Amino acid sequence: MRLVRRLLTLTLVLWTAASVAAAVFLRFWLRERFGRGGPIPASQAGVLLHPLRRRIHPPEEMLAWFGVDTGQTVLELGPGPGYFTIEAARRVGEGGRILCVDVQRDMLTALQRRLREHGAARAHPVLGDATRLPLADRSVDRAYLVTVLGEVPDRPAALAELRRVLRPGGLLAFAETFTDPDYVLRETLRDLCRATGFEVDGERSLLLGYMMRFRKPEDAPADPPVRRSRRRAPRSEAAS
Ligand SMILES: C[S@@+](CC[C@H](N)C(=O)[O-])C[C@H]1O[C@@H](n2cnc3c(N)ncnc32)[C@H](O)[C@@H]1O
Repeated sequence: MRLVRRLLTLTLVLWTAASVAAAVFLRFWLRERFGRGGPIPASQAGVLLHPLRRRIHPPEEMLAWFGVDTGQTVLELGPGPGYFTIEAARRVGEGGRILCVDVQRDMLTALQRRLREHGAARAHPVLGDATRLPLADRSVDRAYLVTVLGEVPDRPAALAELRRVLRPGGLLAFAETFTDPDYVLRETLRDLCRATGFEVDGERSLLLGYMMRFRKPEDAPADPPVRRSRRRAPRSEAAS
């Protein structure tokens, strides 16, 4: 009888703890999805570097799938504090470089610190907005965005910019996680990229989401001027 009572108590405690955790997560998720708007604040950058993240986002495997390789010039759009950047810099080696464009100065400060700690000299933080990339036409071999596109208000303009800076034949890769309040649906991403002139190159599932890869056709016509929508710009702390 005592054993049964103990088991019941334990079940109740676990159930209560799980419910509280779920309620806290849901409140956070709803606030992020519908309330705050704009990029994740730099004050939350630590979450992106949590060691448990390796289980859902193994950087070596993902960057290999993104096609990041020796000697390339790679655009990492929205690097945050650099969870992927260290491994990306290692992969491109001495002859390559990673251009890390982020709209938040404070994220880039955190990134710079991490790059210094790891001696990742091939990665370069650049302040800039996805819809006005401070890069030349056809200047990068690869571009990747992990849980970034959903934070950009004008996605078609960002994709047009990505197309402009990618060389013909270059790859554009994304990873999305469905627990992220800014999650972009597979179908939405596919449609947006196709409408911008990219071809689907591959798709793979992740533990809590997916990766999708696109190619800019070799015979892509000259890029038309980027049309920006009149939607509101990212929150005020973001750089213009
Ligand atoms: C959720 S974090 C992901 C960071 C990193 N990709 C990772 O997976 O750890 C999104 C990042 O995208 C950046 N970002 C959001 N909107 C942007 C924009 N319009 N242009 C450039 N970067 C942007 C944010 O500042 C933030 O660093």
